[in-house]
Order: sequence, then C-alpha cells, then structure tokens
Amino acid sequence: MMGDIEEILVSREQIREMTRGLGKRISEDYEGCDLIVVGVLKGSFIFLADLMREITIPADMDLIAVSSYGASTKSSGVVRIIKDIDIDIEGKHVLIVEDLVDTGLTLNHLKELFGTRNPKSVKVCAAFDKPSRRKVDIEAEYKGIEVPDKFIVGYGLDYAGKYRNLPDVCTLKKEIYSNS
Ligand code: IMP
Ligand code: MG
Repeated sequence: MMGDIEEILVSREQIREMTRGLGKRISEDYEGCDLIVVGVLKGSFIFLADLMREITIPADMDLIAVSSYGASTKSSGVVRIIKDIDIDIEGKHVLIVEDLVDTGLTLNHLKELFGTRNPKSVKVCAAFDKPSRRKVDIEAEYKGIEVPDKFIVGYGLDYAGKYRNLPDVCTLKKEIYSNS
C-alpha cells in the first residue's frame, strides 16, 4: 500500500494540529448548547474520532451514511442516504462532520435534509476543502486544510474502498487509477 503513494499532501502532524484547532473553536462556540455531532460515513470516521476527542464540552453524536461516488474518482452528483441518523434533532444544534468538501453537493443535500427536521442550527465542519471544484455555493463554517484539485486518499478518504487507513493525506501513482 505504501508503494502506491505518489506524494504526501498533508502530513499526520498537520492533521493533528488542524483537529486540535477545530476542536477548540467548536468547544468555545457551542459552550452551553445542546450539540449533536453528525459524522458522514464512511469518509469522516477517522476525522470524527479525532475531532470528538478534541471537543471539551458535552456533545451527543450520530452517524449518517451516504454514497455518491461508487468506485470512480468523479462525483455522480446523486446523493444516496444509506443509513439515516437515529437521534431527534428538533431544537438541537447540529454539526455535520465531513472529510472533504468537493463539489459541495453532498453537504448541500444533507443541510437541506436536516433543515426540514427543525433543528436550532445546522453547521458544517470539514477536514479538507477543494474550493476549486465547487458546484453549489456552500462553505463549511469550520474548515480544516485547503487541498489542490487532485484526487486524494488517506485519513478516511478512499479510492475504490481502499487507502482509508493511510495516516497522511496522499495522492496515488497514476498507474493505480489507470484501469478505472
Ligand atoms: P462532494 O459532494 O462533491 O462535495 O463530495 C463528497 C464526498 O466525495 C467527500 O466527502 C468525499 O468522501 C468524496 N471525495 C471527494 N473528493 C475526493 C477525493 O479527492 N478523494 C476521496 N474522496 C473524495
Ligand atoms: Mg464523504
């Protein structure tokens, strides 16, 4: 697996600093609030686990599973809810935790969906941001690190289901993608 890496774009040290900073801001901003942190599966699972441990105020959590890419490196634009959250978010502050905002279509869809359930607020925390690829006008209120318009893997991000367990965010060698 390590031999498939072309370049490390974001190191585990940078990621650690990023999660610390975001956790601190979230803890300050939501002090005294009824906060529900909602992780978007599968990509956010590692970031969510790190971020939760940097949040120092009481927070409930839940998971939603969506799928938009299949085994391709391009978004299909169709967001499918595979597993919904179980918690009632009415009157609560919802913070959606995403691995990466790319076209923004997934988040747009999720914000709309949660918005129909009468929460007190819905905001977004994303580990990585690819602003150059945006198709809808949406920004995460809590943004980690900006990445260039390249397909990346690691720290939860996959290519065809693999490489999520890489601790750094990397690009892969061209021959890895050549048969997709
Ligand atoms: P969006 O709906 O286009 O903003 O993208 C949503 C999801 O696509 C992200 O949360 C990722 O899970 C996935 N995605 C987008 N770009 C990449 C990438 O470069 N590598 C791996 N997954 C990606
Ligand atoms: Mg995702």
